[in-house]
Amino acid sequence: MNELDALAQEARAAFASAVAPADLENAKARYLGKAGRITELMKGLATLPVDEKKSRGAAINQAKQAIEVALNERRQALADAELDQQLKAEALDVTLPGRQRGAGGLHPVSLTLERIESIFGSMGFEVADGPEIESDWFNFTALNTPEDHPARSMHDTFYVEGGSEKAPNLLRTHTSPMQIRHAVAHVKRHRAALDAGQGMPEIRVIAPGRTYRVDSDATHSPMFHQCEGLWIGENVSFKDLKFVFTDFCRTFFESNDLVLRFRPSFFPFTEPSAEIDIQFQSGPLAGRWLEVAGSGQVHPNVVRNMGLDPERFIGFAFGMGPDRLTMLRYGVNDLRLFFDGDIRFLSQFR
Ligand code: FA5
Ligand code: MG
Repeated sequence: MNELDALAQEARAAFASAVAPADLENAKARYLGKAGRITELMKGLATLPVDEKKSRGAAINQAKQAIEVALNERRQALADAELDQQLKAEALDVTLPGRQRGAGGLHPVSLTLERIESIFGSMGFEVADGPEIESDWFNFTALNTPEDHPARSMHDTFYVEGGSEKAPNLLRTHTSPMQIRHAVAHVKRHRAALDAGQGMPEIRVIAPGRTYRVDSDATHSPMFHQCEGLWIGENVSFKDLKFVFTDFCRTFFESNDLVLRFRPSFFPFTEPSAEIDIQFQSGPLAGRWLEVAGSGQVHPNVVRNMGLDPERFIGFAFGMGPDRLTMLRYGVNDLRLFFDGDIRFLSQFR
């Protein structure tokens, strides 16, 4: 092989080993550039005698053409490869499922509230709604918790602007103020009949909603939910409370495999009072007593603040924690997860 064939072959190998267009252009410069090998050889022609010049020139030109062909082939190959890769990267897989609009879902606590409303609805309870910013009167005083009463310190209250200095407005610490609000409105509608010595339809209501306390740990959140229940009539007793609440729990948890315990307790607005604990007889929570509500027979002073005669009207009330019920139902061990707004957690309950 003569030196020109060898040069062309060397160039071809250099082009072949270039993987990026920039490498290829560098290699091209080494052979075809201003200071490249072919150019050098051309310059050398000047020193040759005329008769040799012609044949040598033709041979160099041939080598140059061979190198240019090799260069163009390699350029094309690299361009093809690049296009190929681009097509692969941008390939559309028409068999993939389409992009879907995210289907929303209800928050797990909302699911619990809906469930509570439907179960109590089936037992003849109305559903009432009330303000979250409350007056001192409805949240405490009307519920037999006068100013300076030690029971007020059982609730760590968020106070807000408004009201008087002695009785500032506050974020309701429980849904119990709805006992008064709802009963007063009910009694007002039946005032004439009551004054005439006739009766009134029983008050049978639940009032779910948000409540607030300065409180935060795995089972306490500063914003949480409660659901109040109130049943007032002429012959409503603690026995009815036990029946209603037991029935509710069994329906809510879809299990007869749980027992309730009414543990004596204190609330200013009920007498006697009881905390309601439940215990599952089977499943992961079996054996533990879990507090789900406070309850009791409505205190005569509260019945009076409803505008009713406590000698005639009696009944019971309860206040349960739907957040805790949600934790129990789904086996969640930290209440705060419900309110962190993490969609990965919340979407599990859809
Ligand atoms: C009360 O708030 C009373 N108003 C309940 C009541 C109503 C008694 C009617 C008698 C008659 P208590 O502070 O125990 O009681 O709260 C009731 C329920 O609310 C608790 O059992 C619990 O389930 C829930 N709860 C209370 N504080 C929090 C909190 N920070 N986070 C989540 N749930 C809470
Ligand atoms: Mg309690």
